[in-house]
Amino acid sequence: MGSKDRVLELLELNKEEYISGELMADKLGLSRNAVWKAIKELRKQGYVIEASSKKGYHLGTSNDIISEFGILSELSKLSGSAEFSGKIYIHESVDSTNRLAKELAIAGAPDKTVIIARNQTLGKGRRDHQFFSPEGGVYMSIILSPDMLPAVEPDVVTALAGVAVCDSIFSLCGINPRIKPVNDLFVDDKKICGILTESGTEYDTGTVQWIVIGIGINFDSDISKFPKELKNIAGSVFKPGKAAITKNELIAAIINNIISLSHSGKKEVLKAYNDRLLLL
Ligand code: BTN
Repeated sequence: MGSKDRVLELLELNKEEYISGELMADKLGLSRNAVWKAIKELRKQGYVIEASSKKGYHLGTSNDIISEFGILSELSKLSGSAEFSGKIYIHESVDSTNRLAKELAIAGAPDKTVIIARNQTLGKGRRDHQFFSPEGGVYMSIILSPDMLPAVEPDVVTALAGVAVCDSIFSLCGINPRIKPVNDLFVDDKKICGILTESGTEYDTGTVQWIVIGIGINFDSDISKFPKELKNIAGSVFKPGKAAITKNELIAAIINNIISLSHSGKKEVLKAYNDRLLLL
């Protein structure tokens, strides 16, 4: 891990308070100058890092940059998260996190590997539709081993993901999305999230070898900039720049909920899914 990432990790872990450059240098075994350089680079990347000559540095609360440390530190606050042993890959831009996740799964990436992008150029929806994926959204795919799931039937896995996202959004900000069968989440009458589950099967035996759950959420997306055919259908959890939570918090909650739901039985998952259905 480079100095910049280690400084960011320390700032994330000390989010509630200031930490002096000297203490950071001590803890990380770096020179004060290296800490300063890392802070400069992080600021260039868009992090707001407040500085006080007496108290040191502090990661501003306005930061909403998806980062591995941000997600891991949010995960560590959640019950059940002790189980998260997966690897998190974060990209500025990819064609599709599902495509990348499938590539990694085929190459043998372990259960709970997570791939996240800040935007996608070829986001994939059901039936080969495109999923418009500009900045402002959360685009994530998680690789799961079939042995870890209550059932490998496609609708059960997608239902599990839908419940995980609904509950994460509700517990973090009181907004109560509903599921439109089987893979769309709505707030009021607007779609705020789409889910695409894909899998790899050994053809000879029909054995499912890996599952990828892809989740796309309009988080604080500017719907006015969406293509005109989507403007009336799409919604966003928050208005642009008005999010009450961070993307890292949401991603951590989703990972945590997916893991804990994966210990439930199929009946329980389907009951939770039915309880969250959009009533027309
Ligand atoms: C749909 O609405 O039909 C499903 C959309 C699923 C989109 C997500 S975004 C993250 C992951 N990567 C993709 O390319 N697709 C899924």
